[in-house]
Amino acid sequence: MENGAALHSILVVDDDATNLRILQEILKSAYKVYASPSGERALSFLENRIPDLIMLDVGMPGMSGYDLLKRLKGDERLASVPVIFLTVREGRESEEEAFRLGAVDYIVKPVTAGVVRARVDLHIELGNYRKRIEKLVGQKTERLGRVQDSILKILSGVTAWRDDGESGHIERTAAYAGLAVKGLLETDDPVYRVTPQYGDSIIKASKLHDIGHVAIPDSILMKPGELTPEEFAVMKKHTVIGAAIIDDAINGLGDDSSFLATAREIVVSHHEWWNGGGYPNAVSGREIPLSGRVVAIADTYDILTADSLCKTALTHGEAMRVIHEETGSHFDPRMIEILEEIFPAFAGVKPQT
Ligand SMILES: [Fe+2]
Ligand SMILES: [Fe+2]
Repeated sequence: MENGAALHSILVVDDDATNLRILQEILKSAYKVYASPSGERALSFLENRIPDLIMLDVGMPGMSGYDLLKRLKGDERLASVPVIFLTVREGRESEEEAFRLGAVDYIVKPVTAGVVRARVDLHIELGNYRKRIEKLVGQKTERLGRVQDSILKILSGVTAWRDDGESGHIERTAAYAGLAVKGLLETDDPVYRVTPQYGDSIIKASKLHDIGHVAIPDSILMKPGELTPEEFAVMKKHTVIGAAIIDDAINGLGDDSSFLATAREIVVSHHEWWNGGGYPNAVSGREIPLSGRVVAIADTYDILTADSLCKTALTHGEAMRVIHEETGSHFDPRMIEILEEIFPAFAGVKPQT
């Protein structure tokens, strides 16, 4: 038993004033006890307070104990508060009904001090364990999220340095993907609307889109000017190599988490074209994962507007002209239409030259 048990609070709901008084007497040395003479009064008490345990009389005029329990279980705030039923009604049926509705225990009146204290102490203690476990799980989940974020940071850092340490391409592509996701979170087109979780995965995983570049020789990756057809064939492999890297992670973790699944989609499909003219699989239309279609736009916009060894940067207006020219061939026309309102914000990501 915890030393702080005296601080735990118990709400006793019973229309019989004598029973309320007896239970208060039994429990008051170890708990803070609140008494309520009806289900309705209990509900208004519960609007402002959440006790650690509720003891509930089954047969009450007005709202019965069963009705109150149903209300509690339907309320997210109160559903996990343990409820012990109190009743004079003996018999299997009412016990079963109480458990079916979610009560943790059942005490038959007239109550005795020993039984009440033993049961209440037990359920308060179980509640403490549950809260401790929930806290631990919460901490572990948060830690796992931080580990995932730092692995992502390392991997996207490796990709960025492999390309060109200072270019900022990876971060900017993620910023454009973030703006596009904002547009897709808000669209009323159900085919294109993304959930917050998928949207978040797209933004994070966009940083890995070129992770396969780690396997492409410098002579090709860093080559100023046009690649020969043979060199381009090697370059194209960064998509499937990247997918194999993510597959290793998925298999290693034994976990096809939504984040890794989205990362795989993006890595393998960010060079596919709407008309089927892209690579590596020449898939077309909505067969290309939505995440890959988003990153195709973000990636291309950044390539067009960034300085590089082989070309000068286009302005926002010029880049948008190219994107519109390639809409329907390279890019998803409906997605471009939805994102029209968002595109002006792209101009704010990189300082205009
Ligand atoms: Fe790429
Ligand atoms: Fe890229």
